[in-house]
This record gives sequence, structure tokens and C-alpha cells, in this order.
Amino acid sequence: MAMSIEPLGPTLAARVTGLDLTRPLDPGQVAAIEAGMDEHAVLVFPAQRITDEQQVAFTLNFGALEETAGGNVTPKDQRRLDPQLADVSNLDQHGKPLARDDRRRMFNLGNQLWHSDSSFRATPAKYSILSGRVVATSGGNTEFADMRAAYDALDPRTRDEVEDLVCEHSLMYSRGALGFDTLSAEERAMFAPVRQRLVRTHPKTGRRSLYLSSHAGEIVGWPVPEARAFLRDLNEHATQPQFVYVHRWQPFDLVMWDNRQTMHRVRRFDAGQVRDMRRTTVAGDGPTFPQAAAA
Ligand code: OGA
Ligand code: MN
Repeated sequence: MAMSIEPLGPTLAARVTGLDLTRPLDPGQVAAIEAGMDEHAVLVFPAQRITDEQQVAFTLNFGALEETAGGNVTPKDQRRLDPQLADVSNLDQHGKPLARDDRRRMFNLGNQLWHSDSSFRATPAKYSILSGRVVATSGGNTEFADMRAAYDALDPRTRDEVEDLVCEHSLMYSRGALGFDTLSAEERAMFAPVRQRLVRTHPKTGRRSLYLSSHAGEIVGWPVPEARAFLRDLNEHATQPQFVYVHRWQPFDLVMWDNRQTMHRVRRFDAGQVRDMRRTTVAGDGPTFPQAAAA
């Protein structure tokens, strides 16, 4: 069966059929997926009964794997999955839903805020690849916002204003926004802020996009309240329905997105039901801004 791509959302997202991602892909198939990502920014591959090992192998077609260390507060001995995979489920190491007030769960609730994966790392993520092994039966949709379309729709004055701005991103900002601020000294050091450009240009298509994320908490050189108010405005603009694709999960959907041109968030779901979601991440090419540079 030939690979086919059909658009799903208003300006982003497409469904890809005719590929078996559990098996090695040939270079032509990899190139076709990359081209699909450049154009649509989010690709949905339905009915891919993939194992963790196969998911890692698929991911490596698109670049190096991003390390999961430094992105969560789960102690090593409480991990459920191999460190090559980010555990974005609501499960403990025994596969049971985390208690409502479990620290790991409260930290993961940050995924309900619009974000771009790993914008808190100096070299942020290229692609994220999320496999829905057990999906929520009510709630738990994942929404994606097109940051290229959001950039294009800015009024000219705002577009000029954001052009050279640089933000500071940290997990402390996104978690702090939810009132999760009981971090150890070690976690604070691990979550030290990094700088990212507010406007980035896609290396292949040349399209510009707004690089927003709930991890952004400051604009370099701006008073903090003014920066946060402006970032809120920009987020409100960028996540209007005309820029958003809502993904309603079916078991074994595999969804792949380009963090350089989108934001995403998961919606609320019943804490007592199992939602087993496993993510692999393709590392980015480099920083969007030199970390050592003075403001
Ligand atoms: C992620 C994420 C959303 C979800 O995997 O990066 O934010 O739907 N997940 O679980
Ligand atoms: Mn995410």
C-alpha cells in the first residue's frame, strides 16, 4: 500500500497511512515523512502497534535521541520506562495511576499548559513522537497550535516588536505557574533558565514562527510583569481556534510534531483511569540563541 498524506487541521496536521512504522523504513519513506513534517508540522499515524524498541528505532531516522534526564522530578528508582523514553503517562513504576497528590503527577500536570517540548533546554527538541498505548476514554485530547500561522497573523507592529526578543525558559516557570514550587536545591540547579529567541526560522522551509512555551517566564531586558503580560497576550493570540488542531486519541495512534513550529497541550482527563503515553524525542540541531551572550 502506498503512503498517503491527507490534511486534518485548519493550517497544520495531516494523517499518514500506508506505512508500517514497526519495520525499518527506506530512505525515500524517511524523506517523505520529513517533507510531510516540514509542511504540516504534525503527522498522525493511526494504528501503529509499536514497541518501545521499535519506537526508538523509528525516531533515530530523524536525528539523535534527546536525553530525558533533566526534564522531570521522577527519581531513577521510580521510573517505569527506559530512559530513552519520556514517560508522559499518569502511571507509577508498577503501572498503577499515580495518587492525586503524588509529586510526579503534579509535576506532569504542567503538560496541560501550552508548551514546546524542551524549550527549557539550551538545545531544544526537534521532533516529539508520542505513542498512545492506552488512551483516555474521556478527556485527554492533545491540542496543537500552529506557530507559523500565529506569527503570520501578527499585526506589523507586534511583528517588529518581537523580532529580536529573547526569552528565558525554565521548568520552574511552567511549574511555578501552577503553584508547584517545592523544588530541591538540586532540582533548581537542574532547571536553571536558558535563553531562546522569540521568533525562529525553520531551517528548511525558511518560515518564521513564534517560539512560545509555558516554560518562558522572562523577556531579557524587560520588567518581569510586563514580559509575562506580553507573553500571555501572544499565547492568547497564538492559540485561537483557527490555529489549532485537536487530536482525539485512538489506541496505538502515533503522533509526531515539530516543536520548532508548534505548541501543544494535553486536556484534563480522569486521574483514576490509565493513560499510557510514551514519547521519544529527536534532539534539535543547536541553540536558538548563544547562552553565554550578555543581554
Ligand atoms: C508530551 C506531552 C501530551 C499528552 O508528550 O510532550 O506534552 O497528550 N504530552 O500526553
Ligand atoms: Mn509536551
